[in-house]
Amino acid sequence: MNKTNQYLNEMGIESFWYKNTKKISSKPPPTANLMSLEKIVSNCTKCELHKTRNKTVFGDGNTSAKILFIGEAPGREEDKEGKPFVGRAGRLLTEVLDSVGLSRKNIYITNTVKCRPPSNRNPSDEEVEYCADYLEKQIEEINPKIIVLLGRIAADRIIKNENSMSELRKKTFFLESKNIPTIVFYHPAYLLRNPKEKRKVWEDLMYLKSVMKEYDC
Ligand code: URA
Ligand code: SF4
Repeated sequence: MNKTNQYLNEMGIESFWYKNTKKISSKPPPTANLMSLEKIVSNCTKCELHKTRNKTVFGDGNTSAKILFIGEAPGREEDKEGKPFVGRAGRLLTEVLDSVGLSRKNIYITNTVKCRPPSNRNPSDEEVEYCADYLEKQIEEINPKIIVLLGRIAADRIIKNENSMSELRKKTFFLESKNIPTIVFYHPAYLLRNPKEKRKVWEDLMYLKSVMKEYDC
């Protein structure tokens, strides 16, 4: 019996209601909050990107995932389907993750901005800033054990470190507010452009594996 219930019992008060009340007021599961956030995002007009998008791309995967991947922005396929990483780069990422036993079903994946920039240009600082609240809320709700940043745009937004990509890889950073170990990967589009760099992508994966082991994932 906990201290409060013991106290109530000593005063002759039945304490079962106390337990029940606590249960009812507990925090809703992340899925519920994320679903309402997804609805808000689908109507968002905060930045110019809303004018040219077909579908917003909120995120996909396991909302209780231990690993959260953050990419850059939706591309053409993603904009059509409303799902992240379903085009060429996405299929490659899925394969690469499968090769080390990480299924897309067990992770959560989203992007720094939720609408496609026209002609796949990089999102501007302003667009990233407008969309940042949504990403922060996703991180808070999913509360992952590890965050993986795919490429420069996500790395800039989250760890705000101007070193080159090669200096950011294979290191662990910690988010100021949450103390979540955060690592940087080459974006899968980089591997599509530079197929000879497979080894570097493999090193990124091995580094993730070692961080997973360290943080009990
Ligand atoms: N590249 C990204 O960064 N995100 C996607 O969703 C697809 C391609
Ligand atoms: Fe809103 Fe983000 Fe889309 Fe801009 S990119 S319209 S901030 S959801």
